[in-house]
Amino acid sequence: MIQSTEPSWKKISRIGLFDSGVGGLSVLRSLVGRLEYNTEKEFVYIGDTLRCPYGNRPPRQVTTYVKQLTSWLLQFNLDAIVMACNTSAAVGKDELVSYSPVPVLDLMGPTAKFIKDRGVRRVGVMATAATARKKAFSQQINSLDPKILVNEIGCPLLVPVVEAGLADSQDAQDALKPYVKELLEADVEAIVYGCTHYPFLDSALKSVLSSMTAYPPLIIDPAECLANAISGKPANVGGPQPDAFFSCRFATTGDAETFAHNAGRCLKQNIGSVTTVTMNELTAAFVLRRLQKPVVPTPIQFAPEAVS
Ligand code: DGL
Repeated sequence: MIQSTEPSWKKISRIGLFDSGVGGLSVLRSLVGRLEYNTEKEFVYIGDTLRCPYGNRPPRQVTTYVKQLTSWLLQFNLDAIVMACNTSAAVGKDELVSYSPVPVLDLMGPTAKFIKDRGVRRVGVMATAATARKKAFSQQINSLDPKILVNEIGCPLLVPVVEAGLADSQDAQDALKPYVKELLEADVEAIVYGCTHYPFLDSALKSVLSSMTAYPPLIIDPAECLANAISGKPANVGGPQPDAFFSCRFATTGDAETFAHNAGRCLKQNIGSVTTVTMNELTAAFVLRRLQKPVVPTPIQFAPEAVS
């Protein structure tokens, strides 16, 4: 939910985002899509590619990972953290809110509000196994209107497809088909991308839908719901500016080159250089934060070559 304690969008100048991999870049894309000028805000993004996917992991483990990523991000003097990973929010939002000294935002509250305001009565949510097991979206939606029928399903095949750089492939369509079939049989009016990786499957999903029904459901991207809610404005026409990602720093726990390549494919822009953060660095940030000692900042530079 957007809480009253959260600072206004205008006052947030530096935002940290995390995900298990490239999925959270769909959230970053929606946020930078609201900016007038690329210098207006700065973003720091970390994808935990080495330990991706999170969706099949035990909640306790995901919560620990999330605190490590947050500890690392907090080195950058942030005004807010965005949980650009719904699995993390489903299993660990409350714990992260108590852990983080800066406001923590997630996508579920704004999505539930959008669904209610739009008058959707039967909604399908495609999510990771962990999110679906928690019924995380269902709870948020039904807390606003218990009569909305929510069909929240786990789709474990999809994150590996996106992480493998196959989002626009026939494999992606094949992976999507059984999930889409299940939701169409439930006669849903709308499908929510309940995992931040899934907006990158948009063209594959639309092809599958057009081969299965003459009346495709509305597709809802929670990243857009959050970006609309916090910025108070719709996306710029044509999406983010060509050099929108110039004001972003990117890091991964996996291979930096692979991440940069896959991120470029997902965002359809060159994102420039990516830093690899080791497990030792993540653990150190976590432990030092617990000891309440300042963490020595990792030297990450803005990447001039990020301009495409
Ligand atoms: N992109 C994340 C989410 O929104 C995590 C996916 C995963 O690692 O399983 O749930």
